[in-house]
Amino acid sequence: MRCHWISVLFLAVITIPQFASSTWWFLSKFQLGTAANPRMYCDHIPGMERKQRRLCQKHPDHMVQVGEGAATGIKECQYQFRQHRWNCSTIDRDASVFGKSLVKSGSREAAFVYAISSAGVVHSISRACNRGDLLNCACDKTRLGKHHDQQGEFAWGGCSTNVRYGSNFARQFIDARERKMRDSRALMNLHNNRVGRKALHKLMRHQCKCHGVSGACNVRTCWTTLPEFREVGAYLKEKYDASLEVSSDPSGTTLITADHLNDNRKSLKTNPPQVHDLVYLEHSSDYCSFDPLIGSIGTAGRPCNKTSKGIDGCDLLCCGRGYDTRRVLVTTPCNCTFKWCCSVECKTCTQWKDEHFCKPLQSFELNKFNATKQQQQQQK
Ligand SMILES: *[C@@H]1O[C@H](CO)[C@@H](O)[C@H](O)[C@H]1NC(C)=O
Ligand SMILES: *[C@@H]1O[C@H](CO)[C@@H](O)[C@H](O)[C@H]1NC(C)=O
Ligand SMILES: *[C@@H]1O[C@H](CO)[C@@H](O)[C@H](O)[C@H]1NC(C)=O
Ligand SMILES: *[C@@H]1O[C@H](CO)[C@@H](O)[C@H](O)[C@H]1NC(C)=O
Repeated sequence: MRCHWISVLFLAVITIPQFASSTWWFLSKFQLGTAANPRMYCDHIPGMERKQRRLCQKHPDHMVQVGEGAATGIKECQYQFRQHRWNCSTIDRDASVFGKSLVKSGSREAAFVYAISSAGVVHSISRACNRGDLLNCACDKTRLGKHHDQQGEFAWGGCSTNVRYGSNFARQFIDARERKMRDSRALMNLHNNRVGRKALHKLMRHQCKCHGVSGACNVRTCWTTLPEFREVGAYLKEKYDASLEVSSDPSGTTLITADHLNDNRKSLKTNPPQVHDLVYLEHSSDYCSFDPLIGSIGTAGRPCNKTSKGIDGCDLLCCGRGYDTRRVLVTTPCNCTFKWCCSVECKTCTQWKDEHFCKPLQSFELNKFNATKQQQQQQK
């Protein structure tokens, strides 16, 4: 739910007690407008660190894109995890956005959220750059002259997307919080933020135009463009599936891969995670039960697939607690015929279909659920 930025003033007041766990992801909840008075504007956007406020004052016109980028990342996260027990849901009116426990924990899910939101910001800043929406950046001017690809020679031309600018700004803005801390959690976040930025660099595409008489491609002009964000989501999801467990080395300055098969510290040191690996510090919960302490909303009531053996199947998604079946009448167009000329006429067919949902909250979860509801009401 995004609201106009005027309401930022109001929300800033009610969320002050939670500021310790507020995050810049909170910007995704607002439709940020342009700033007549950058200082006041930046002081009233909630969820930002001091250094982030300074960057906001320097580049107030970038904040719209930061908010949009975070929103794009979160939406993509929800798409990629729509069939998982943890489905990337956010908490309304909570400045920590995903719940305090995700911000605190070093889980694989946290790794994904950091990477995809940082990729979201690179994407939206770079796109705005290309459109000429931002004051101090434009097309990538470093791509000049002639080059080669599989199809032969081409000349750089048009407006190549300035992904380097977007990436630099995202790094400065998003990493600001982590740079203040010096612990393994900060190292993990910095690493995963970088994986998100690198994903954009890796997935950039060439687009070309042919010039020549009657369709011949004598001369090609090419430029780089951004990938669809869905592609970035799918790529990072693969990285999530293959993510590596790490810990910080004894000096606390770098991450090393935690290799359980080999307890020899020396060999661990030679094995740092690569720039494209998502990394995590802690094993995740199974996200089966409702438990706000570990940031799990559980899977009660989730639609599931009875025949699937995958994570979207009722067995796995409902954690073996069973499911309820609802019989619903589904209407679909059918027996369509082509009428000359030119329309398609269909009949409507109705059919009973079974839909399955994981069993509702169990009694041991209800106490926690009611307590959380009460707390939320008190905060409002
Ligand atoms: C995640 O699942 C819960 C039910 O457990 C549902 O209420 C919520 O809408 C889902 N969130 C998303 C983003 O799909
Ligand atoms: C349920 O899972 C089966 C097997 O994986 C698949 O063929 C089917 O399309 C799925 N149904 C829905 C509604 O997604
Ligand atoms: C659609 O066509 C099938 C077979 O051709 C027929 O059995 C069925 O009754 C038709 N349905 C409707 C709604 O006309
Ligand atoms: C939780 O609240 C529901 C109604 O909202 C009530 O029926 C239920 O008894 C409560 N459960 C517990 C364990 O307090």
